[in-house]
Amino acid sequence: MIAAIGGLRRPDGAAKLTGAADYAADTPVDGVTHAALVPATVATGRIAHIDTAAAVRAPGVLAVLTHTDMPRLKTIGSPPLGQSVLPLQDDTVRYEGQPVAMVLAETFEQARRGAELVRATYADVAVPRAFGDGESVTPRPGLISGNPAGRVGDVEAGLAAATTVVTATYTTPNRHHSPMEPSATVASWHGDQLTVHESTQWVFGTQMALAAAFDLPADHVRVVCPFIGGGFGCKGFVWPHTLLAAAAARVTGRPVKLVLTRAQMFTSCGHQPATTQTLTLGTDDDGRLTAVRHHSVNPTSTFDDYAENATGGTRWMYASPAIDVAVLVEHTSRQTPTPMRAPAEGLGMFALESAMDELAYALRMDPVELRLRNEPAVDPMTGQPFSSRPLPDCLRAAAQRFGWSGRPAEPRSMRDGDELVGWGMASVTMDTFRLPSSARVRLQADGRTIVEAGTQEIGTGLPGVLTTIAAQTLGVDPGSVEVHHGDTDLPETSGTFGSSATMGVGSAVAAAATELRDKLDALAGTGAYPRRLADAGLDSLDAEARWDPAERGEGRSIHTYGAIFVEVRVDPDLGLVRMPRCTATYAAGRIINPLTARSQMIGGIAWGYGQAMLEESILEPQLGRFLSKNMAGYLVPVCADIGDIDVSFIEDPDTDASPLGAKGIGELGAVGVSAAIANAVFHATGIRVRDLPISIERLLNPVWDAPTPTTRP
Ligand code: MOS
Repeated sequence: MIAAIGGLRRPDGAAKLTGAADYAADTPVDGVTHAALVPATVATGRIAHIDTAAAVRAPGVLAVLTHTDMPRLKTIGSPPLGQSVLPLQDDTVRYEGQPVAMVLAETFEQARRGAELVRATYADVAVPRAFGDGESVTPRPGLISGNPAGRVGDVEAGLAAATTVVTATYTTPNRHHSPMEPSATVASWHGDQLTVHESTQWVFGTQMALAAAFDLPADHVRVVCPFIGGGFGCKGFVWPHTLLAAAAARVTGRPVKLVLTRAQMFTSCGHQPATTQTLTLGTDDDGRLTAVRHHSVNPTSTFDDYAENATGGTRWMYASPAIDVAVLVEHTSRQTPTPMRAPAEGLGMFALESAMDELAYALRMDPVELRLRNEPAVDPMTGQPFSSRPLPDCLRAAAQRFGWSGRPAEPRSMRDGDELVGWGMASVTMDTFRLPSSARVRLQADGRTIVEAGTQEIGTGLPGVLTTIAAQTLGVDPGSVEVHHGDTDLPETSGTFGSSATMGVGSAVAAAATELRDKLDALAGTGAYPRRLADAGLDSLDAEARWDPAERGEGRSIHTYGAIFVEVRVDPDLGLVRMPRCTATYAAGRIINPLTARSQMIGGIAWGYGQAMLEESILEPQLGRFLSKNMAGYLVPVCADIGDIDVSFIEDPDTDASPLGAKGIGELGAVGVSAAIANAVFHATGIRVRDLPISIERLLNPVWDAPTPTTRP
């Protein structure tokens, strides 16, 4: 059954729209000092000399810090740090854009000018290590999500038994998160107490990293983050600028504000690494998979192994007696990459769902039917039962809403005037990250209910979700609920990543509200709760609870699913691709607030469109430098790029995932879009684009590979 769209409007919407909402850099601080970073201009080498004389003499400049006078910081490791290398600790340059100095001045402009006047010279400058030149190696444990390698059955035997085999290589480019709000830190010390206002997806991770860096107990560090102007993963971990601002505040004895420039956002808080993925699928005559092999390699820094777990979804997506997945990394001269919405599956499902489309053509089978035929009864790699597996429902519902049944199978068979028209589809999945969290709920005699949780509001609408949960649990009006969030002084929560906040923080709020309801029910009287509090002579009553995901779901394969169908129109002379409409149906646990959930999926699809059509950060191999560090050179979609988006949800409460039945949705919408578009482009043009983005030059000058599907006689 398709769930209806309704729900609570964002309680913080008006404040954000009118500019009343405070973001980190808006924090008013008396006597604040402004910091500006000096980035390294080489990708590998050693700092020979830093001439700070001109900067120190410049108007308003208070100090210039380099590796020679920077306090020595202690590390806590990654995560919560985004990378293992700490800033300004030695003279080694490991990536272009690495901070080599920091200028502190009375105003923002004076700090920027001072930074321009710092002259660094470098020695031992070598040719950077570029992706594709080196060796692919097994990642060392560390900054890895999931299980990079795994095998079940005998893939070689499965391929030998197959009558149709498709094998192809797919690539995705380096991408940057490019949130509207650049990363920013405002740090103030009061004795040995540190307060930091930060744009972060993880206030408690920031607290941990800062406490470790300055050798303080955690409760001496308070991190505040009321709102985030977009994060998408680049604010998930703690990056050098946060440590630098806190160190500068300690050195100068004044509060310090550090806001990264747009250009610095390309070298300071990670990026999504390129992937090169090879997929081999074998089937019998009926289109049943006999073997699946999916290997991926991605570049990482020279000093950390960040493995992009692109083969993740392939582990549980389709039934096959033999599956072999592996992720390798290559050490290159760049900053350590980091997760970006949607990491892992967002990249891997481009390859898998493109290959499934190629297989459908080789078999002359409808691509939806091919997927339905390979629907597994249990998790194909672990043998575990699925907590829920409504993928077929999503496929059927979305196909019907889209009108898929009228599709002619042949490429280049639909035309409208001069435009070629194509329809394509893809399955969608995302892993389910379940993270522990705490929350406190307080009911006051004045009729207000206060929800308190340290968690961050990244823009998904979490305050509305928590309001809904508290109001439903206590049976009070949502308008009487206030949510306080974004502060390490509030109950501890996990980071806002892995699409986990509704499930984790929401379950904690539900548990606290349930406990509070029981306490309120134990009061004398029968009237409304505030009245009963007053009668009992109480101003307020509260309850705090922690939700631990270990309490349930053991031995279950827990994921979210969906299906997306798109129509593209291609101008064959200009290579232009438009997406006038798309239909997507998702199964992602119980949907708490359908209004903001739908917005999440629309945003995810727009994000996936960007992956398919526009986004690419070219890393110049000789310089080891991202070429276009601005929003003119890094293209993201605008409203005019995208037509009608039809989003629906299957009702799929999953109590193996959480007591609320909720799972995660934040990243799911970004998955599968690029494959559906590439498949639609093939249907429109007969050109198979296996390298993202699907740029004009790729469509006008296609690489006409030897046909990859091979059908044995
Ligand atoms: Mo997300 S890439 O888990 O912030």
